[in-house]
Amino acid sequence: MDVSATKRRLLKVIFLGDSGVGKTSLMNRYVYKKFNLQYKATIGADFMTKELRIDDQLVTLQVWDTAGQERFQSLGAAFYRGADCCVFVYDVNVTKSFESLSSWHEEFLKQAEPADPKAFPFLLLGNKIDVDDGHSRAVSEKRARQWCDSRGSMPYFETSAKQDYNVNEAFICIAKAALTNE
Ligand code: GTP
Ligand code: MG
Repeated sequence: MDVSATKRRLLKVIFLGDSGVGKTSLMNRYVYKKFNLQYKATIGADFMTKELRIDDQLVTLQVWDTAGQERFQSLGAAFYRGADCCVFVYDVNVTKSFESLSSWHEEFLKQAEPADPKAFPFLLLGNKIDVDDGHSRAVSEKRARQWCDSRGSMPYFETSAKQDYNVNEAFICIAKAALTNE
C-alpha cells in the first residue's frame, strides 16, 4: 500500500477581500507561476489546486477564489462549509481594502460557523508592496500587524504577486495553518 496516499489530505482554503486587491493574481502566481497586469474581475467562485509536501505530509491545497465585487451577494453557507483556512487579502495602497477586513472576517464567521472561531486558522496578506512611488503606501505594516494581533495573532505576510515576493512563503504558511484545523 502507498503510505503517502493514506497520509494525503485535502485542504480547503478560502480567499476573501475587496475587488482588485490581487486574490486571483496571488493564486495564479503560486499555482501557475503566471502574472497578468490586465484586470479581469472574478465572477462567482472557482478553485485551483496545488499539491505540496509539508514535512512528511502530502497535501492537496484546494484554493477557492471569490469575487470581491460580490461582497454583498453572499456566496452562501455551503460555499464556506468545510473550510480549513481563510485568507484575507488587502492592497497596502488602498485604505478602504484594509478597512473592509473586519466585515470579511465577520462574514466568514457568520457563514462558516467554525466550531471554535478563536482556534480557526486565518491569515492576512498585504499585497502589491511593489507599487512604490514614494507615497502610494496607505496602510503601514504596523497597523496591519496590530489588526492581526487583535484577532488572536493571525500570521501576516506582505506580498507582491507581480514580483513574486513572499508568495511561496505565504502559501506554505497557509498550508501549515490549514493542517492544524481538525
Ligand atoms: P476580484 O476578482 O474583482 O475580486 O479582484 P482580485 O482580488 O482577484 O484582483 P486581481 O488578482 O484580479 O488583481 C487586480 C489588478 O491588480 C490586476 O490588474 C492585477 O494585475 C493587479 N495586481 C495584482 N497583484 C498585484 C501586485 O502584487 N502588484 C501590482 N503592481 N499589481 C497587482
Ligand atoms: Mg479575482
